[in-house]
Amino acid sequence: MQDLSLHILDVAENGIAAGADLVQMTVEEDTKEDRLTITIEDNGRGMSPDFLARALDPFVTTRTTRRVGLGLSLFQQSAQGAEGDLKVDSTPGLGTKVIVRMRHGHIDRKPMGDMAETVTTLIQGNPDVDFVYVHRRNGREFSLDTREIRSELEEIAINNPEVIGLIQDNLRSSLEEIA
Ligand SMILES: Nc1ncnc2c1ncn2[C@@H]1O[C@H](COP(=O)(O)OP(=O)(O)OP(=O)(O)O)[C@@H](O)[C@H]1O
Ligand SMILES: [Mg+2]
Repeated sequence: MQDLSLHILDVAENGIAAGADLVQMTVEEDTKEDRLTITIEDNGRGMSPDFLARALDPFVTTRTTRRVGLGLSLFQQSAQGAEGDLKVDSTPGLGTKVIVRMRHGHIDRKPMGDMAETVTTLIQGNPDVDFVYVHRRNGREFSLDTREIRSELEEIAINNPEVIGLIQDNLRSSLEEIA
């Protein structure tokens, strides 16, 4: 996987597959402390301690289309390649939180990629799920919450192509502002 945004997409999709109706993603960039922290939290069915212990194994999956599950282990490899780590905290019936840390300036740190694309792909494909996206960079912050967008839209669907286009433009310009 080339970009961190694609790892984030994959982990968010895990939460949706686990029945979540709220997925919260946070990206925190601190260039002075040389830290990049990503958290993806969902309120899906969670994993038992037993399953969680094996969840990072690329041969563990509940997928039926393919025998290997690679999402979490590939993200872990990416983090480790930039002197970081990936931790999963999960409670059956409550949800799952994936915390990924790495060195921001590490030569092998993968690029952020297109977070505007990741977030709008998630919203467009999962109109019944709510998403919160917070991006902090050196003290500046930007956040998006589909629950707020929904209340402003009233009867218009959140996955209406024009709405998605507006959300994407807004994300792109907000991300540029804090860059
Ligand atoms: N947020 C989550 N909530 C509940 N179960 C999860 C969650 N994330 C992962 N799992 C469980 O861990 C398994 C491994 O996840 P992983 O993302 O590594 O692979 P996958 O989703 O099965 O396949 P891939 O990501 O390659 O499409 C999943 O099949 C699922 O059973
Ligand atoms: Mg996955």
